[in-house]
Amino acid sequence: MNMIDIKKMNLYYGDFQALKEINLSIPEKEVTAFIGPSGCGKSTLLKSLNRMNDLVSDCRITGEIKIDGQNIYQANYDVNRLRKEVGMVFQHPNPFPKSIYDNIAYGPRTHGIKSKAQLDEIVERSLKQAAIWEEVKDKLQQNALSISGGQQQRLCIARALAVEPKVLLMDEPTSALDPISTNKIEELVRQLRKDLTIVIVTHNMQQASRVSDKVAFFLLGEVCEFGPTERIFQFPTDPRTEDYISGKFG
Ligand SMILES: Nc1ncnc2c1ncn2[C@@H]1O[C@H](COP(=O)(O)OP(=O)(O)O)[C@@H](O)[C@H]1O
Ligand SMILES: [Mg+2]
Repeated sequence: MNMIDIKKMNLYYGDFQALKEINLSIPEKEVTAFIGPSGCGKSTLLKSLNRMNDLVSDCRITGEIKIDGQNIYQANYDVNRLRKEVGMVFQHPNPFPKSIYDNIAYGPRTHGIKSKAQLDEIVERSLKQAAIWEEVKDKLQQNALSISGGQQQRLCIARALAVEPKVLLMDEPTSALDPISTNKIEELVRQLRKDLTIVIVTHNMQQASRVSDKVAFFLLGEVCEFGPTERIFQFPTDPRTEDYISGKFG
């Protein structure tokens, strides 16, 4: 089954067309990597998947994006529900300046969970799922900004997981991290695909080949090529894909 179905989607920032006729079907419980040179529209498409572009006043979208069968841009669509079902993690870890516990409990609390026992359970489950429980279980009341950058990023992943999303969007989640933290996040991504659908933007070709099942190669606002990761890296059909992955431009 496809978790995300994008059909004839165009996106404009004012007069500038940032995405052109995007057609993309992203399967459930797989990792899909968006690759391509800077400015080709990867983040723009990622943000469209949880309607973060709603905040950009001159942004206009045509076409269709379905997530789990629902057109997320239809008039009466519940954006709060979308934000629960589609979590996002950014390039720079952005924990709230609150305790580790409160970072994770924040989402569930806004969705009405008040019971301490229930929140405790969610905090533990989410931190375990993000492979950071062992490192922070004895300092849950400590400020989240006091842990390392790599730990903060896993905390942000745990925060996203706390509301049990179906989709996790990650925009270059390791580009600000050291190699060891990067490894941990990559391992985590491979683990999480058992439970949810992941879309990850990366500049790192090795990372794309290590973590993803499918790759979409973007160029100038278009999806130039999309397919199974091994096939894209070994036998790209479009010469522009081959030039990019072999490092001729970027
Ligand atoms: N808020 C915005 N307003 C106007 N143009 C934007 C905005 N965000 C991105 N763009 C433009 O859209 C294009 C795609 O940007 P982006 O999606 O950030 O690319 P990528 O993530 O692939 O580097 C770029 O030309 C960028 O300058
Ligand atoms: Mg980007």
